[in-house]
Amino acid sequence: MILVTGGTGLVGSHVLLYLCQKHDKVRAIFRNESKIKKVKHVFEYYQESNMSFFDRIEWVQADIIDLPALEKVFEGVEYVYHCAAMVSFDPSDYHALRKSNIEGTANIVNLCLNFGIKKIAYMSSVAALGGKDLNDPIREDSPWNSDGDHNVYAITKYGAEMEIWRGVQEGLDCIIVNPGIIVGPGFWKSSSGSLFTRVFRGMRYYSTAINGYVDIHDVVKTFIQLMESDITNERFIQVAENLSSKSFIDMIAQAINAKSPEKSVSPLILKFGWRYDWLRAKLLGKRRRLTRHLAKILTKDTYYDNSKLKKTLNFEYKPISQSVEETAVLFNRDQA
Ligand SMILES: NC(=O)c1ccc[n+]([C@@H]2O[C@H](COP(=O)([O-])OP(=O)(O)OC[C@H]3O[C@@H](n4cnc5c(N)ncnc54)[C@H](OP(=O)(O)O)[C@@H]3O)[C@@H](O)[C@H]2O)c1
Repeated sequence: MILVTGGTGLVGSHVLLYLCQKHDKVRAIFRNESKIKKVKHVFEYYQESNMSFFDRIEWVQADIIDLPALEKVFEGVEYVYHCAAMVSFDPSDYHALRKSNIEGTANIVNLCLNFGIKKIAYMSSVAALGGKDLNDPIREDSPWNSDGDHNVYAITKYGAEMEIWRGVQEGLDCIIVNPGIIVGPGFWKSSSGSLFTRVFRGMRYYSTAINGYVDIHDVVKTFIQLMESDITNERFIQVAENLSSKSFIDMIAQAINAKSPEKSVSPLILKFGWRYDWLRAKLLGKRRRLTRHLAKILTKDTYYDNSKLKKTLNFEYKPISQSVEETAVLFNRDQA
């Protein structure tokens, strides 16, 4: 039996899609039943005529911070794909982020050890890699700068990876992947999927900051390939291209027939913007949209070296322009 956490999200739903095509014993956890419909919708994108794969999923309700519930989920499991995480850059979510991402991962690791799980595949992030103050491209072995000015999401993804490495010290086998910004369909209001919705609604400003982008299918195919290989206890960056935010947003705008933002966001606007956003959140109780750290990300170029995964698996990434076009077709269909 294979267990998948985070199966009701962008990454996990695609992990389920690929696993169910090859394996008939796949268990997934969920918190809210309504989210299962979204997973079904993802399966429908790719195989309208054959939904029998979806029926292979055994759904069990559990939160990764609820240890007793989680314990029941592990009965009979041999392999674990851990994709569940809270994704937020809002400092007021720090406590909740620590709970889900660090404590939740510690629970998963402890149960993997208790149940003698053969291998865990952990979905980390480039956010958990070496400090962004370095000028060289970031690699798998770039050192994490513990004095660095990291955002709350990065701190908790790094903490989660530390839990996985602690499990390795205690005898667990793992592989870890560190994807950049993932381009994929179905979750238009959360995580990276919300970028399509934001462009659709109209963005006023663009940033020219460079970041790493990757297609959802490339992420999932290589994640599973690494899990099913003899490779253990290594991590791999998953980035197809280092691109400016402006070129990425322009690609989306063109593909969904929306207007590209026309004004470049200056450091001064960002300095004013995150302070205004902080005040607005304090006075009106609104969620943060632009934090100090997001403002920093929007002005800083970060390049990733993607050679390790390409060499190890002899793999070629899909160009991001193709990935945006394919995702846009499904976005347009869902809007219709
Ligand atoms: N999207 C990206 O660009 C990107 C890039 C790099 C890394 N990642 C990593 O990829 C993974 C999946 O992200 P995503 O983009 O698929 O995000 P997502 O669409 O927001 O999905 C997150 C998933 O985690 C689940 N989850 C969160 N907290 C949980 C908890 N306490 N107990 C059980 N399940 C919980 C969510 O369940 P509910 O449906 O119940 O909320 C959902 O299934 C994360 O580890 C993220 O850090 C994503």
